[in-house]
Amino acid sequence: MMRIGIVGAGGMGTVHRSNYAHIDGCQVAAVAGKSAADWERAKEWGVPMYDTISEMVRSESIDLVDICTPTFLHKQHVMESLELGKHTIVEKPVALHKKDAEEMFSLAGEKGVQLYVAQVLQFTKEAEVLRGLVRSGEYGPVLDASFERLTACPRWSKDGWLFDREKSGLLPFDLHIHDLDIIVSLFGRPDDISFTRCAGRGRSYHEQYRFQYRFGKLNVCAEAAWFHADFPFTARWRVYFENAVVVNDGTHVTAYPFDHEPRVFDTEDKIKIPTGINVPPTGWYFSELSHFIRCAEQGVPSPLVSRQQVITVIELLETISEAL
Ligand SMILES: NC(=O)c1ccc[n+]([C@@H]2O[C@H](COP(=O)([O-])OP(=O)(O)OC[C@H]3O[C@@H](n4cnc5c(N)ncnc54)[C@H](O)[C@@H]3O)[C@@H](O)[C@H]2O)c1
Repeated sequence: MMRIGIVGAGGMGTVHRSNYAHIDGCQVAAVAGKSAADWERAKEWGVPMYDTISEMVRSESIDLVDICTPTFLHKQHVMESLELGKHTIVEKPVALHKKDAEEMFSLAGEKGVQLYVAQVLQFTKEAEVLRGLVRSGEYGPVLDASFERLTACPRWSKDGWLFDREKSGLLPFDLHIHDLDIIVSLFGRPDDISFTRCAGRGRSYHEQYRFQYRFGKLNVCAEAAWFHADFPFTARWRVYFENAVVVNDGTHVTAYPFDHEPRVFDTEDKIKIPTGINVPPTGWYFSELSHFIRCAEQGVPSPLVSRQQVITVIELLETISEAL
């Protein structure tokens, strides 16, 4: 039985806890938190709560620490957990600087434990289909691809850490990271990046970005927005293979080959778990956390979210964020 200590029982801490309840061979054994809300959640879950990770790990038998604190606390919490010799899961983004991400993975290596970064899109059925088609070459090579991830500005978090550039990295690190993770995992490190961005008057951050990534002759574009409008959440992509266009319209993934019937892929999650955050019931987190638990049991890194992939993504986002 893998005993887990959750750090930060907020939105994502609660999502993780709900999913662990459906995963065989694991159990949430304790919480480390700071706020009254964290205390409330620990009480509701029937587990002890501690002020720090060290106290939690010294007082309880813990095999894996799962860090769901705000982004700017990730490094401090990951380092504390790794120093204590624990396998560690951390929510995305692992860090806002490549140097920090490298230090975190290096410490995991020194301590002989694994660090898993919750870049969850890898665990969606849509990403699985796309990965399969790119790797198998079934429709030939990719000639062009575009991704979109657009949402109304997260106003529920208006006064919180999410709107502080130093604490969250804003839109690139919080939202675009998902598509960039898929792009890097499919096509590697781009040879070139360019982008445009915009913001309404008086806004303290850029609300919309249009990115262009070049991989040799292949161009991949992506758009991301946290817009000042009650715009429905939209996540779509379209990939032009030599012998088919494959479209994720946000509901279905369909391949349109030449001279053949369109092929609709089965992307329905077998298990859907309510999230309690602004994401409808889904199987993404179940697949992700089940995968990390199985990897941790074997003491191996995740083949789906590798160290190199995570670091490349953070490095690219850092370059984007630093651009004037
Ligand atoms: N993968 C996804 O789909 C997804 C979605 C949303 C958020 N996230 C990521 O999850 C992380 C957490 O986001 P959230 O929306 O759950 O935030 P949140 O503010 O809802 O929760 C953070 C929790 O951490 C606790 N906390 C703060 N300081 C602490 C400390 N020093 N020790 C222990 N606990 C502490 C807070 O009390 C709170 O309960 C962020 O990095 C975010 O980017 C990922």
